[in-house]
Amino acid sequence: MSFKDLASSRKSSRRYKKNVSIPRKDLELCVECARHAPSACNSQPWNFIIVDDRSKLSRIYDEVISGIYAINSFASDCPAFIAVVSEKARIPARVGGKLMGTDFRFIDAGIACAHIILQAEELGIGTCVLGWFNDRRLKKILSVPASGKIKLLIALGYSEENVQRKKPLKDREQTVSFNTYGSDRQESSAGRR
Ligand SMILES: Cc1cc2nc3c(=O)[nH]c(=O)nc-3n(C[C@H](O)[C@H](O)[C@H](O)COP(=O)(O)O)c2cc1C
Repeated sequence: MSFKDLASSRKSSRRYKKNVSIPRKDLELCVECARHAPSACNSQPWNFIIVDDRSKLSRIYDEVISGIYAINSFASDCPAFIAVVSEKARIPARVGGKLMGTDFRFIDAGIACAHIILQAEELGIGTCVLGWFNDRRLKKILSVPASGKIKLLIALGYSEENVQRKKPLKDREQTVSFNTYGSDRQESSAGRR
């Protein structure tokens, strides 16, 4: 499959086959791809925690995606999570980030997250990125040090639904242009010199 096909066919999965676990080697491959992701100043300010232990999974279902986070309780079917822990970046990335008003750690985490979900897609594993969950509880459950922040939790499992639904995509013309913001309403790549 071409990368374009992989990227455009991936959709979030919110129903997983119950009790079908994901081989550890596949989970490791997803994280291996994340380790190669770019990061500001090559800081690699991350730590990936693969969770596939039954008792930890139960605690995540009960404590991390429940209550006000129950909109994500669909992930109670999933056999694995990957928590992306953002750690303190190297000094140049921190200084650059301060000057730019950007916390690069979380951008780095997002890119790493993309590597994980696309590798999972290639392996036939469904995913859903979660940004709404009880991160304090999750840190406790996973024994993450106080300095670590978990902004992204990825649910993984074999999809029980047909995720090939049509996704409303913003128009290309509305979101892409060459050389000047919004200039491409007429110009196309064929028209480029
Ligand atoms: C940073 C981030 C946070 C997200 N948080 C949630 C979430 O908490 N719950 C959820 O069901 N989906 C969540 N999603 C998934 C998005 O809703 C989904 O990617 C988007 O609707 C596009 O659909 P698609 O993934 O099927 O292409 C999140 C995605 C991202 C990138």
